[in-house]
Amino acid sequence: MNRPHVTLKLATSLDGRIATAAGESRWITGEAARAQVQKLRAETHAVMIGVGTARADDPELLARTDPPPRRQPIRVVLDTEFSFSPSGRLFDSLDRATLLIIGAADGDKSRREALEAAGARTAGVSRGPVGIDAEAALVALWDHGVERVLCEGGGQLAASLLVAEVVDRLEWFRAPIVLGAEGRPGVGPLALTQLSQASRWRRVALRELGPDIWESYERVS
Ligand SMILES: NC(=O)c1ccc[n+]([C@@H]2O[C@H](COP(=O)([O-])OP(=O)(O)OC[C@H]3O[C@@H](n4cnc5c(N)ncnc54)[C@H](OP(=O)(O)O)[C@@H]3O)[C@@H](O)[C@H]2O)c1
Repeated sequence: MNRPHVTLKLATSLDGRIATAAGESRWITGEAARAQVQKLRAETHAVMIGVGTARADDPELLARTDPPPRRQPIRVVLDTEFSFSPSGRLFDSLDRATLLIIGAADGDKSRREALEAAGARTAGVSRGPVGIDAEAALVALWDHGVERVLCEGGGQLAASLLVAEVVDRLEWFRAPIVLGAEGRPGVGPLALTQLSQASRWRRVALRELGPDIWESYERVS
């Protein structure tokens, strides 16, 4: 299967949470970690999120580096029913970067057309166990010329990609706070029944960024 190289970025509390139960996530990590994420964006071809994050955070997903990247990454939202409202910061910044919304091929046609009329590109792929099929979404990205994609969450999308075994690298930023079990998990349910089923990772770098820790991992199995 031809698909892009996938990096999953997580910015979590010490106990692996990406937001409070109410969805508050700005800002878990500090300035230096956030600046590093901007560099990761500037180095990739596409930045991908689930529609849950698009709704909760209203992000722009632009790479804000100095100097700015030669080309902004394509912003990608996985949105099965094309139900995302065609407004907000992703749409306000269409003059600066492409927005691609990937949903189900049999997803709502009129909503899909509304997103296109507002300036987004769309692609339709097969459905998966959760939302759209993660691998099919990656193949669609490859067909759009994307060779490297940075996934920025949320937890459900991170879990889908891990279950599909398509994550090649983890960039994990960990802040010295604890949010507890009611916080939103950085990685959603994986449906593992045995420890031996857990994916294994080899740490390839470990750095301090102000108060935070930045770990990089490559997949072992
Ligand atoms: N700390 C951080 O850096 C950080 C980063 C990102 C997000 N967050 C936080 O995380 C929360 C959102 O995370 P979330 O887990 O609720 O949502 P999410 O993973 O962003 O989006 C999940 C939604 O995406 C759609 N989807 C389509 N295909 C999918 C697939 N293959 N796998 C998974 N989802 C798919 C589904 O909705 P449909 O079925 O409707 O398509 C699903 O409900 C927010 O509170 C946000 O602030 C924090």
